[in-house]
Amino acid sequence: MTSPTGPGRARQTEIYRGGALGRRPAVPADFAGLEEAAQQVSSDVAWAYVAGGAGEGRTMRNNRAAFERWAIVPRMLHGNLTRDLSLDLLGTRLPAPVLLAPVGAGALMGADSDVKIARAAASQGLPYVFSHQGCNPMEETAAAMGETPRWVQLYWSTDEDLVDSTIQRAEAIGAGALVVTLDTTMLGWRPQDLTLGSLPFSQGIGIAQYTSDPHFTEVVRARTASKDKQDVQVTLGAIRTLLSMTRQYPGRFLANLRSPEPRAAVETFLDIYSNPGLSWEHLATLRERTRLPVVLKGILHPDDAQRALDAGVDAVVVSNHGGRQVDNAIASLDALIAIRERVGAEATLLLDSGIRTGADVFTALALGADAVLLGRPYMYGLALAGERGVAEVLANVVAELDLTMALAGAADLDAITRDLVVPNPSYRW
Ligand code: FNR
Ligand code: LAC
Repeated sequence: MTSPTGPGRARQTEIYRGGALGRRPAVPADFAGLEEAAQQVSSDVAWAYVAGGAGEGRTMRNNRAAFERWAIVPRMLHGNLTRDLSLDLLGTRLPAPVLLAPVGAGALMGADSDVKIARAAASQGLPYVFSHQGCNPMEETAAAMGETPRWVQLYWSTDEDLVDSTIQRAEAIGAGALVVTLDTTMLGWRPQDLTLGSLPFSQGIGIAQYTSDPHFTEVVRARTASKDKQDVQVTLGAIRTLLSMTRQYPGRFLANLRSPEPRAAVETFLDIYSNPGLSWEHLATLRERTRLPVVLKGILHPDDAQRALDAGVDAVVVSNHGGRQVDNAIASLDALIAIRERVGAEATLLLDSGIRTGADVFTALALGADAVLLGRPYMYGLALAGERGVAEVLANVVAELDLTMALAGAADLDAITRDLVVPNPSYRW
């Protein structure tokens, strides 16, 4: 006799068995509960940054509304006892079509954020895309995840040597791809952060890939050697900021407190962060600069997607950055449909922004995504229960995808076809 197995059933069994012994899961199993619980344990500043979005929050709402506008139509009596959720992505076999999106300044939600997230990703065998605005050096994060795939996200600096140095480090840690994020050459207008006057990077949070970089460190040293001391107004806030920069900087706290480097590092970062003049010409130089597969993240227009693929990039992430950049931008799910139509069936398209559940992953795949990235949901798991919280969020999403496939009649990812979704007749415009 074959028993119905798979990650869905396995996760349910784990939770219900624990429940019978009086143990509760570390994170709520629904997204609304997860979000609410995470907010309760987060500071105002952390919540503003992580949960916040651009402008009036319309892009974030569009992302969710786009999923509401589609409904799954399950098929019956298909007789499938098991499912295969695995896929090949850029030459690597993955157990499920889910990756962890690059999320910067994770330390706002828990110390040693990137290392904990890496361990959780590895526990589920899912790839983690390291943020260029991460809180642990990429070498340390990579070491925490064994052989599990890691990709490295790049913000294209105005300092081209820093771009090269970051690429070399990504190659050295065995990155499976270089993910160049295109949509954040400047930060969007983010009222939640602006109202609090809060930017994690200016506290030294989220610049660990820079302060651990040999080229960046040289630039900082040159700056501290040449610069006259600037007068800083000594307020309580300024002292707090100095302490935070000092704590985040590599090395010993007391030595850092006496050193001008932590502050110079923050200033240098703010000077050379992401190049607002980034263009197709910059991207064309990548082929000589790396042998890694190149993924472009943040594309929403079919023409941009086609041009990227024509230029030889290996994959595109259709994304509006979780609604953090342009207010009232098109939902990434809506953009995906138009882009898939334009680029054809063969191109590798990933999707993020607004994925909250396994059913959402199913819908995204039915509408043309090859795989998806999760952002905020796993950060909320981190806030609530560290590594275990992240692992549970990932396990829950994959479990629900597996159950949705089982109950809708899809034995593998190729069977999640367009005809399994329809425009939602119950959607209220
Ligand atoms: C992000 N995102 C992001 N993207 C990127 O390429 N580099 C980065 O450093 C960051 N930083 C970052 C911080 C925070 C707090 C959030 C919420 C997001 C965007 C991220 O990779 C992804 O596109 C979105 O998070 C996906 O949307 P959801 O799942 O959060 O709705
Ligand atoms: C953000 C940048 C760091 O979304 O990607 O805050």
